[in-house]
Amino acid sequence: MTEPATTRAADREPWWIANYRGTGYVERYGSHDGATTRRDVDFLIDHLALRGDDTILDLCCAFARHTRELTRRGYTGTTGVDLSPDLLGHAATTAAAAGEPLSLLHADIRDLPLDDGHADAVLLLFNSFGFLDTTDEDLGVLREARRVLRPGGRLAMDHFTPHPNTTGMGTRTVRSANAETTQHITWDPATRRLNRHTITAYRDGTTSTSHSSVRLYTPAELTELLHAAGFVIDEQFGGYDASPLTADSSRHLVTAHRP
Ligand SMILES: C[S@@+](CC[C@H](N)C(=O)[O-])C[C@H]1O[C@@H](n2cnc3c(N)ncnc32)[C@H](O)[C@@H]1O
Repeated sequence: MTEPATTRAADREPWWIANYRGTGYVERYGSHDGATTRRDVDFLIDHLALRGDDTILDLCCAFARHTRELTRRGYTGTTGVDLSPDLLGHAATTAAAAGEPLSLLHADIRDLPLDDGHADAVLLLFNSFGFLDTTDEDLGVLREARRVLRPGGRLAMDHFTPHPNTTGMGTRTVRSANAETTQHITWDPATRRLNRHTITAYRDGTTSTSHSSVRLYTPAELTELLHAAGFVIDEQFGGYDASPLTADSSRHLVTAHRP
């Protein structure tokens, strides 16, 4: 007997849980933990005017590269928030091995276990938006970010734009010390989602596959969502080098605040 379609959909694990199980994400993007992260944090300290005693939430922190870099620089009120126990575990183990303090919170960014006005700054970095099925649900994430910010608190977001450099990425392979990862990337113009099928082949002979499906918003669409969530836009750039946002920008870096 065939199960009703509604039951199957309800039982299916969302990709944004399955894709971040294990440490395949670290194999794909671990190389960003270094000069790239230091550059990002230089930008954030400068453009969000971060102060040493600020309460900062790094939402969707994954292996917490920005949380750790901020903490190392004395922003000890920084907490990395993520839903993946495996990535948080990796972050905790790596920080402990380096003798670094690290604050992490296992939580869903759609419903944070934090009081209204808890934070001075919220980060949502490196394409950590557009995961949900509908624009209304994505908007809910921004509303939650606004809720946990104090009035005057600041937000930084960095997201791919639907630029041909992104939508036409095709197939890419990344090699790390432990694995070779191949991603087949396609763009669905009807849903405006960037879909990736990822195969991770570990050096020990095991493999894993996963997929992701991220809704890409144009800068105009994203700023509209930020306004709808109650933010005031401060600055917009095409990257962490503070390059101007243009029609040719494949990245949209925006700062905003809760009025
Ligand atoms: C693109 S990665 C984050 C990259 C990270 N900000 C960086 O710059 O390295 C997206 C992360 O979002 C997390 N995530 C997805 N949905 C979430 C949710 N509803 N609540 C909390 N974390 C979530 C995933 O576990 C994953 O670690």
